[in-house]
Amino acid sequence: MKTLEFSNGDQMPALGLGTWKSEPQAVYHAVKHAIKAGYRHIDCAWIYGNEDEIGQALEESFAEGTVKREDLWITSKLWNSFHKPEHVEEAIKLSLKALRIDYLDLYLMHWPVAHKEGVFLPKGAADLVSLEDCPVSATWGAMEDLVKQGLCRHIGVSNFSVTKLKKLTEAAAHKPEMNQLEMHPYLQQLDMVAFCRANGIHLTAYSPLGSPDRPARLKDEDEPVLLEEPLIATIAERLKVSPAQVLLGWSLKRGNAVIPKSVNPVRMEQNFEARNIEVSDEDCTAIEKLNRGRRYVNGSAWVVDGGPYTIENLWDE
Ligand code: A2P
Repeated sequence: MKTLEFSNGDQMPALGLGTWKSEPQAVYHAVKHAIKAGYRHIDCAWIYGNEDEIGQALEESFAEGTVKREDLWITSKLWNSFHKPEHVEEAIKLSLKALRIDYLDLYLMHWPVAHKEGVFLPKGAADLVSLEDCPVSATWGAMEDLVKQGLCRHIGVSNFSVTKLKKLTEAAAHKPEMNQLEMHPYLQQLDMVAFCRANGIHLTAYSPLGSPDRPARLKDEDEPVLLEEPLIATIAERLKVSPAQVLLGWSLKRGNAVIPKSVNPVRMEQNFEARNIEVSDEDCTAIEKLNRGRRYVNGSAWVVDGGPYTIENLWDE
C-alpha cells in the first residue's frame, strides 16, 4: 500500500474508506468489513452523523484482534458550528468519544465557514458567522493546542482554496499538513497540487468517483456522470478493471490520498484492489484533458440571502 509520509515519520495509507453519506447501520458493517479486507485508513467527520456506529465497529475490531489501534489511520473533522476557539476541544472530544478512541491521527477543519453555535446547516444569514468575526486563524490556534494535548497527531484543513491555505500556512505556528478536497478527472485542482507540493502539504481526494449518491438537492440535472465517462470506460475495458478502479488508480498515481465511499462489500473490496492498478503515463495524459473545473460539491449550502459567504469568496475564484 502506498503511504503519505508526515514530517514526524507517520505514514498515512493512501487509500482509505470514505464514510460521508453512509447510513449508520450500514457504516458499522462497512467498517468491520473494510478492516477485515485490509483497509487501514478510515475517513470520518462529526457532521456525517455516524461516528458512533464507526466507533462500535472499531471497538469490536480491536477486541476481536482484527487490527490494533496503532495500525489504523483515523481522520475526523471539526464541524462549522465549533469554530469559536473555546469550542474546538469540546468538538474533538465528541468525535473521540463516539469513535471510542483516545486520539485521532488527523483532525481537519471541515470548511472555511463558521456557523453560530448549535447550527448544523444554515437556514438563513443569522445562522452564519463571517470569517471576519470568527477568523480561521483563531480556530486553527485552538486546533494546534489539540496536538499539544495529544488529542490528535496531525492537523489540517478541508475545502480550502489556495488563497486561504497560503494565508493560513504563512501565519500558522503548526503548518497545515493536509488539505482534503474534491478531486477527480473533472476537477484536477492543478494549482492546488502545485502549491501543496511546493509547501509540503499532503492532499486527500474526496468524491473521487463523482459522488453519485449525493442528495438530489446537491445535484444538477445535466451534470456529467464521472463513472460513465467514455474515456475512463475505454481504459477500464482495456485494463480489464472497473471504471471506479481506473479513477482510484489515477488518483493514487498522482501521489494523493483517496477516500472512496462504499458500504457494499464487493465494491469496497474492488476499490481496495485499485491500489494494485497501474494507469499508464499515456492514459494519464489522456485523462488530463478531461479537466473542466467541475465541482460536484460546490459549497452552495453556505450561500444564503444576506449571508457572508458566496461561491466566489468560498473558493476565491
Ligand atoms: P455504494 O456505497 O453502494 O458502494 P464517492 O466516493 O465519489 O462519494 O462515491 C460514492 C458512491 O459511489 C456511492 O454511491 C457508492 O455506492 C458508489 N461506489 C463506490 N464504489 C463503487 C464502485 N467500485 N463502482 C461503482 N460505484 C461505486
